[in-house]
Amino acid sequence: MAIQTNLTDKTAIITGGSRGIGWETAKEMIKENMNVVLISRNKKILQSRIDELDQYKKQVRIFPCDLTNPTSALEISKYCISEYNKIDVLVNSAGAAKGGIFSEIPDKDWEDSFNLKFFGTIRVIRTVIPYMKEQKDGRIVNVIGDTGKKPNKLMLPGSSVNAALLSLTKGLADELGQYGIRINAVSPGPTRTERILDMFKSLAKSTNKSIQEIEEEFLNENIIKKLADPKDIANLIIYLSSDISKNITGTTVTSDGGRSKFI
Ligand SMILES: NC(=O)c1ccc[n+]([C@@H]2O[C@H](COP(=O)([O-])OP(=O)(O)OC[C@H]3O[C@@H](n4cnc5c(N)ncnc54)[C@H](OP(=O)(O)O)[C@@H]3O)[C@@H](O)[C@H]2O)c1
Repeated sequence: MAIQTNLTDKTAIITGGSRGIGWETAKEMIKENMNVVLISRNKKILQSRIDELDQYKKQVRIFPCDLTNPTSALEISKYCISEYNKIDVLVNSAGAAKGGIFSEIPDKDWEDSFNLKFFGTIRVIRTVIPYMKEQKDGRIVNVIGDTGKKPNKLMLPGSSVNAALLSLTKGLADELGQYGIRINAVSPGPTRTERILDMFKSLAKSTNKSIQEIEEEFLNENIIKKLADPKDIANLIIYLSSDISKNITGTTVTSDGGRSKFI
C-alpha cells in the first residue's frame, strides 16, 4: 500500500515560497492536493509562479510582503484565512544571511540576518498558533541549515540565527504539543538553489578560481559529493508536514550529504 500522507485539502503558508527550497516545497504540496500561500517580496516572481501553476490555480495564492516588516506576519495569516479558511501547515523557508570575516561584519548585517530569518520566523509562528489551536492540529516546519550545529567562520550571522532557531524549534515543541501542534525543522547542507550558486560565483571571482573548483572545494567535507537538490529538502518537509510523522515533534532532520560528522 502507498504511504498515506493525508495532506489532501490541507493549507500551507510557505515563506520564501517563490524560489529555491520554498518553491520546490510548494510544487510538491500541490501534487499532494494541498493549497499553498506563497510569501516573498518580489511580486513579479510570485506572479510568474502562479502562471506556471495555471492548471492548479485554485490551490495557489501569493502574498507579496517583506518579512522584516513586523506587521507582515499578521497580514499573512489573515490573508490565508480569508482565502482558505484555515492554516494547517507553516513552512518557514525565507532567509538571506550575510557573511564575511567577523571583524568586518557591521551591526547592520547582524541585525538584517536576525530580523529576517529569526524574527520573521517567530512572528509568523505567533500569528498561526491561534488558528492551529482552534483546529487542535497544526504542523510547523522551519528550514534551518547545517551551520546551526556546525558554525562556519565566514557565515557567522547565518550560523548564529540557525543555532537560535534549533533551540526555538526544540523548546516550542514542548509548549505547542498540548494543542496538537507539532513543530520540527529540516537542516539542509549545501543545496542547489540560486543563493548557493550566487555565492559560488562571487567566491570564484574573488579567488580567481572556476565555479566548478569552488563547488568541489565546498563539497570536500561531504560524504556524498553532490549538492542536494531542493526537492530532496522539499520531500523532507512534506514528510514532517504529514501524518507519516505524527509521532515526531521538536526534531531536526538533517539532509547534508553526510557533511556533519558528529552524532
Ligand atoms: N541553499 C542552501 O544551500 C541552504 C543550506 C542550508 C540552509 N538553507 C536555508 O534554507 C532557506 C531557503 O534557502 P534557499 O536556498 O531556498 O534560498 P533562496 O533560493 O535564496 O530563496 C529565498 C526565499 O526567501 C525570500 N525572501 C528573502 N528575503 C525575504 C524577505 N525580507 N521577506 C520575504 N521573503 C524573503 C526570497 O524571495 P524574495 O527575494 O523575492 O523576497 C525567496 O523566495 C534559507 O533560510 C536558507 O538559510 C539553504
